[in-house]
Formats: sequence, structure tokens, C-alpha cells
Amino acid sequence: MPHQRPKGTRDLDAGLMARFEDIRFSFVRIAEEMGYSLVEFPVLESVDLFERSTGETTDVVQKQMYRLQDGAGRDLALRPEGTPGLVRAAIQEGWLGGRNGERFAYYGPFFRYERPQKGRYRQFVQLGAEFIGSDTPQADAETILLLAQLLEELEIEHTFKINTLGTPKERENYREVLTSWLTERKEKLPKEDQANLTRNPLRILDSKRPQTRALLGDAPTILDQLGEASKSRFSRVISLLEEADIPFEVDPFLVRGLDYYTQTVFEAVGAEGAQDAFGGGGRYDGLVKTLGGPDLPAVGFAAGVDRLAQATDYFEEPLPCLLIPLGDVGREEAWHLALELWAEGISVRVAWHEDNLSKALKRAHASGAAWVMILGENELNAEVATLRNMETGNQKTVPLKPSLIKRALGQDEDE
Ligand code: HAM
Repeated sequence: MPHQRPKGTRDLDAGLMARFEDIRFSFVRIAEEMGYSLVEFPVLESVDLFERSTGETTDVVQKQMYRLQDGAGRDLALRPEGTPGLVRAAIQEGWLGGRNGERFAYYGPFFRYERPQKGRYRQFVQLGAEFIGSDTPQADAETILLLAQLLEELEIEHTFKINTLGTPKERENYREVLTSWLTERKEKLPKEDQANLTRNPLRILDSKRPQTRALLGDAPTILDQLGEASKSRFSRVISLLEEADIPFEVDPFLVRGLDYYTQTVFEAVGAEGAQDAFGGGGRYDGLVKTLGGPDLPAVGFAAGVDRLAQATDYFEEPLPCLLIPLGDVGREEAWHLALELWAEGISVRVAWHEDNLSKALKRAHASGAAWVMILGENELNAEVATLRNMETGNQKTVPLKPSLIKRALGQDEDE
């Protein structure tokens, strides 16, 4: 049997790749306009980095992280998410320090050992943005706006879910209140969710199991545990989003699955609500310090490019021009002509293998070429090429001059 790709990974064909490229291009442009600089950091990081930041008890670290040992016995992980690596790099490389905070954007492959399904892969691509150094509500709203603008540009219908986890103290209080509330109702929880009661009770709020969802209808929410400062901060974020016309709803049970979040958390979901999130993020004020850097607040998000690509329409650009030389002499002339055309930046693909014109035209049609340029015996004698518009069937001859060919292709496209 031929080799198979590892379960949960993808091979991207040209059409999908073009969508990924489009998304990357739009993201980098919007991010740069808003002052975020594109950076890169390794796919491999130490296991310890993720245990300390993403969280030792999270599913991402406990169950989903690909671990490996290198030749010297170092414990490394294929990064399951970007925030820890970005923060590690920013500290190590001295990227931090500006008075208005530093803004970073990234794009690349991530790995999680999850049960594969549509929109969920073991190797996937994330784009992300992190804003380190500002604890203003405007910084939260700005990162949400960046993701919203990308979704707008990609014409993906969406809305945001937003919540706050308060300060670490408020979050801890809430954890206790929720744990005792859930413990009193333990027998109503499915077994799988019961296991989280001691390990990570806030995760129960994310449970998709209907029994748990029904029970949670009456559960206490974080909002009751918030002090005045966190409350007014959250309302400020909300009014900033309203001013920016960003669609959102407050979801008091949104907690997100990573340990470092404080205050604002958010997710971008489809307008219909049902499918998995396009992206998510939030504030993580303690993380930079925890990882050995200065005590700087931060906020950011990441979005799944595989999911964005799935939600966008893409019209494949037709192949602009196929050059068909016939016979050895035709091929020789075509080589010279192609060198000149490529040097001029004219897009053309050469069909090196054709000797039979009618079969060649059939194949050209099937390949979706907009134009065909024929170099056969007659053309070579007259030192011209025949240019055929594949949509209309109209033909004309052009001298073998790149500038004239370029004009002919352009002129006829306007017809
Ligand atoms: P996350 O919610 O774990 O957050 O992942 C962000 C997005 O990555 C998800 O909304 C989803 O679109 C995509 N994603 C996650 N897992 C998969 C998968 N197995 N297959 C396909 N797509 C997936 C983070 O990763 C945080 N680092 C976000 C952040 C940045 N928070 C603050 N700054």
C-alpha cells in the first residue's frame, strides 16, 4: 500500500493553498496597518514552557501535546498554541519595552493530539496577535477589532462571545463557589464531567454534554464574584466594542481552556452559533512575569486558518495563458519566447509535450486556460504566434515580441 499521511494531518491542494495564502495575506496587511509586526518563533519549545503557561492540568497540555525527546534527552513539545512561545521569544530576544506596548502577529503550524473531525486536525495552522504592555480596555477592544476586521474582509459571518474572568483572586473565588455548587449536584453530572470537578472545575462550563448544559442553566456565574474595578472594566470593553460596531453577546459561561487568562476572554463564532470557534483569546496579565519577564499586562488571540479557509469562498484564477509549441522546432522557439515572456513577468505555462494540436486544445480547455498561444509550423514560418481566446474561440496572430503579446493578452481581456 502507498504511504498514508499521519491521521489528522492534511495535504493542501492548489485551491486550498490559495485560500490559505489569501487569508495570510489579508491578516498580515490588516495587522501591520494596526501596528502589529509579523514575527516567527520555533515549532519546538520545551515541555516545561507549556506546563507553566498553558497549564499543567489543561487538556491541551495533559492530553493533546505531542512530546518528544531529542538526541540529548531534552523534553520538547510540538507547540500546541502560540502565546507561550511568543512571550518566551519576546523576553529572550528583548523585544519588549516600548511605552505604548509591543504588538506582534504570527502565522504557522500548531499541533494537538485531538480526535480529528471537520475543522479539527492534529496539525493545523493558526494566525495570532499578541499585544504586550497595555492593560487598557482599549487594548482588549483593539485585538478583538483586528480579528473582526479579518473576518469582515474574508466575508465570514460571525459574532463574538465575550466574558470576563476578573482578577486571579476573583477567578479563584468563583472556582470555589462553582466547585461547591457543582459538588452538591455531583450525581447529576455525567462521569466524564465529574472527573473535572477536582482537576479543572471551570472546564465543566464548556461541556457540550446535554445533561451538564441543562444543569448549568442555574449555576452561579462569575459576574457575582466581580469587584467594582473588574465590573467597570468589563463594561468599558463592551462599550468600546459597541462603538466599533462589532457584533457580540456576553456569555457568562465562556471560560476558555487555557490557564493564563485574566479579565476579558472572547471567541469568534459563526453567526449560526453551532460550529467550533474561528478564533479565541483574552487577557493574560500574569504570564509575562511568570515566564521570567517584566510584570507586563497582555492580551491577544489566535484563529484557526483551516476553519477560516473552510468558511470562505474562493474562485480559482484561471490559468492566464498556455503556450503550445508543436514539434521539436516549435519547442526550440518556445524556449526562447518563454524566457523573454517570463523575464517580462508575463504569466504563461508551456505545454512541452504536445504534438497534436486538437488534442492539445482539448487539454487546454480542460485545464481552464483563458488563452492559448500556438507555435506550429505555419506560425514559425511567419514569425508569429496564434493567440486563441478559449472562451470565445476568437483567434488572431501576434508577432513574437513580448510587449505585443502582453498587449494582445491585455487588450483581449478587456473585450
Ligand atoms: P485556542 O482557542 O486554543 O487559543 O485556539 C485558537 C483557535 O485555533 C481556535 O479557535 C481554533 O479555530 C483553532 N484551533 C485550535 N485547535 C485546533 C485544531 N485541532 N484544528 C484546527 N483548528 C484548531 C489559543 O491557542 C490561544 N493561544 C489564543 C490566545 C492568544 N490567547 C491569547 N493570545
